[in-house]
Amino acid sequence: MKFEHYPVMLTEAVEGLAVVPDGIYADCTLGGCGHTKKILSLLGEQGRVLGIDLDPAALENAALTVNDKRLITWHGNYKDILTAAKENGIAKLNGALFDLGVSSYQIDTAERGFSYMHDAPLDMRMDNTGGVTAAELVNRLSAEELAKIFFEYGEERYSRRIAQKIIERRADSPIETTGGLASLIASAYPAKELKNGNPAKRCFQALRIAVNGELDGLDKALEDAMELLVSGGRLAVITFHSLEDRIVKNTFSRFANPCTCPPDLPVCVCGKKPVAKIITKKPVVCSLRESEENSRSHSAKLRIAEKL
Ligand SMILES: C[S@@+](CC[C@H](N)C(=O)[O-])C[C@H]1O[C@@H](n2cnc3c(N)ncnc32)[C@H](O)[C@@H]1O
Repeated sequence: MKFEHYPVMLTEAVEGLAVVPDGIYADCTLGGCGHTKKILSLLGEQGRVLGIDLDPAALENAALTVNDKRLITWHGNYKDILTAAKENGIAKLNGALFDLGVSSYQIDTAERGFSYMHDAPLDMRMDNTGGVTAAELVNRLSAEELAKIFFEYGEERYSRRIAQKIIERRADSPIETTGGLASLIASAYPAKELKNGNPAKRCFQALRIAVNGELDGLDKALEDAMELLVSGGRLAVITFHSLEDRIVKNTFSRFANPCTCPPDLPVCVCGKKPVAKIITKKPVVCSLRESEENSRSHSAKLRIAEKL
């Protein structure tokens, strides 16, 4: 199936990669190929893009919409970028892009079960060829585990109440649908707070992060991408919430300043040397125009580092 995705901070991210015409780039979150198409437009005949995605639908869309031999696609997790590169005979990269989170196709396609706006089976797997669905988590985890997910990944302040409602409801019958879960969450909310947007938003984000293990190993994936870069190669990362952004920020800080010596030591004895410099001292945010055109861009932050 073909689909489109509004590529967030397209110009800023691709300019940030400082594309060289015969370079090899990894688009670690291929999605609707928005960033990939722009990178391809700047490459010469020898240039290549390795497009990675967990979602088979993203690779199918790439095959249908990008007719370009310079694009190599790889189904899998960007946490396995070293394997993806090796399997495709790529020893070094000139740049790597991570545009984290879900695509609009995933959110808008009811049967993928990501959205509280459509009633569908509660799935939320980016890679729907395996793994555990959101329904399985909701029907299996303890109240404490569910509350922890809602609180830590969704900053949901009624996390315990919602978890308790889930436990009570599933004692009668399993919670199988997005609509069923969304109305249960709403029922745990004080009535006066129901006017402040859909109360399911934070818990749905939290469950999605848990189902797809979105935060686990992100730092290692960035380190592996950095390891693959040539000197002068760029790593660009777009995040959509503070939990992701904090991981990227801290990983970039370690790239630029890895020394672990106590601050009062006059000279470094740990021997750890910087591997990259940070290009974006503050994260780049999207233009007013873009945030008006695409509400999803609103929370996006772009950070760029350059390998030394
Ligand atoms: C925001 S979209 C990317 C959109 C893309 N940049 C574009 O312009 O069309 C994020 C994509 O990353 C994929 N994804 C998320 N986590 C992933 C992971 N750990 N490994 C590989 N792909 C992942 C999702 O399936 C989704 O297709």
